[in-house]
Amino acid sequence: MSRKRNKERQIIQNVSIEAVAAEGNGLAHIDGKVLFVPKCVPGDVVDVQLTRSRKGFMQGDMIRMVKESPIRQKPFCPHYGICGGCTWQALPYDKQLEFKQQQVIDQLTRIGHLTLPPISPILGSERITDYRNKLEFTFSDRRWLFNSERFNPDGTPREFTPEELCGLGFHIPMSFSKVLDIKECRLQKEPSNAIRMFAREYALEHGFRFFDLYNHVGFLRNLMIRSTEDGQFMVNLVIGTQQIGGSPTKHELDDAKGLLNALCQKFPEISSTYLIINNKANDSYDGCRMIHVSGKEFITEKMEDITFRIGPKSFYQTNSLQAYRLYSAVRDFAQPKESEILYDLYTGTGTIALFMARRVKKVIGIEYVEEAVADARINSRDNGIDNAEFFAGDMKDVLDDEFIRKHGKPDIIVLDPPRAGIHPSVAQVILNAAPDRMVYVSCNPASQARDLEILCSRYNILKVQPVDMFPHTQHVENVVLLKKK
Ligand SMILES: C[S@@+](CC[C@H](N)C(=O)[O-])C[C@H]1O[C@@H](n2cnc3c(N)ncnc32)[C@H](O)[C@@H]1O
Repeated sequence: MSRKRNKERQIIQNVSIEAVAAEGNGLAHIDGKVLFVPKCVPGDVVDVQLTRSRKGFMQGDMIRMVKESPIRQKPFCPHYGICGGCTWQALPYDKQLEFKQQQVIDQLTRIGHLTLPPISPILGSERITDYRNKLEFTFSDRRWLFNSERFNPDGTPREFTPEELCGLGFHIPMSFSKVLDIKECRLQKEPSNAIRMFAREYALEHGFRFFDLYNHVGFLRNLMIRSTEDGQFMVNLVIGTQQIGGSPTKHELDDAKGLLNALCQKFPEISSTYLIINNKANDSYDGCRMIHVSGKEFITEKMEDITFRIGPKSFYQTNSLQAYRLYSAVRDFAQPKESEILYDLYTGTGTIALFMARRVKKVIGIEYVEEAVADARINSRDNGIDNAEFFAGDMKDVLDDEFIRKHGKPDIIVLDPPRAGIHPSVAQVILNAAPDRMVYVSCNPASQARDLEILCSRYNILKVQPVDMFPHTQHVENVVLLKKK
């Protein structure tokens, strides 16, 4: 390893990548400091240009591959390295699983200082491409341009027509305004790519305006494609307005419906379409008006004998097959009995609660998002489940000692919080409730480790099961069984 001073940013040569860090970057040590380098795999030797240097760590970009790691594989995606998704494609899948398993062990022991039982081997995803049931693309009137297309052969800047600048794809990492025009994405089964490409061509042929991400105005804003294991497709077209807070004209609504109808004619797999009007500066669909344009009002996913309905805004785990394995692991850990009360905290649309309901006396689900709770109640009713109750609100406000007195002391608590983990006051209420068993599901082993350290004052960890929901990403899900001491 040698260092070369660059006028702007320091370059470090011949850096040997030793491991994969928690956020998925390659990790090396330079003069006692940790260096994180994206897009590298253990065994790579690379030249790195520093982008950040702090007291305890440094970050940099690989600017030259000196020697490729023997474990490196050829990425399958033509957009690898520019698109922000599937950043671990250069790692073979068995190595990805190995690193994720290690990540869980490291986080639980280093952050949570926990004594762990033997950890079950991570449950890998049966499908490692085409595994997502939802993709959301962004229309942009100023797509990401590659250096290779910016200039004419004589070196002069190239002129582009407005159509040539239009793109429909994913945001470039860390950039709200740059969208990579996607030609092929291997995350969702076909005809997902064909639907997106058709929508793009139709929009250009009809002269529709792609969204201006700088000023948050324009016509075509997002295209969301949802699918189910048995091949139903839902397409949601999100349109913006000519000014923030404005309304689309009748002409625009007709044009948008025309696009959706043309998609339905071309792709018989599409069984439901919606128009969503987002006139806000941000991309969230909270409060956005929805117009059901054609087909059914929802698509349906089945898990054992339970059918879940999925509307345009419904939350559903994005890897359906792995969701079933995850929930099965939760049920195996919980060992529910017919005489027992089960609380499913952070229940989303009630999927875990309903999956368990027929095995227990009563299920209580609590969730922040009101629409999700409404979906949970509908799913409960449609499946003839009459022992599940759902409550909407912030966990720290809803779940208190009084709530537990009123609704019954839980024998089992399943908790599946967001990445941030649980609020300390929620942990205290859980400890007061003192269920016999808890199953903690987490998409962030670091916050899970912190929470487990608190819960382990009165609980022992009996089992740990990592699950891979998102191949080719650094994300890992982890399920932990806790038993009262
Ligand atoms: C990881 S998801 C779990 C979803 C569900 N268990 C499933 O498998 O579909 C976390 C859920 O917690 C909800 N949530 C986030 N913060 C919350 C809070 N403070 N109180 C209640 N629910 C919250 C989110 O809306 C989301 O539905």
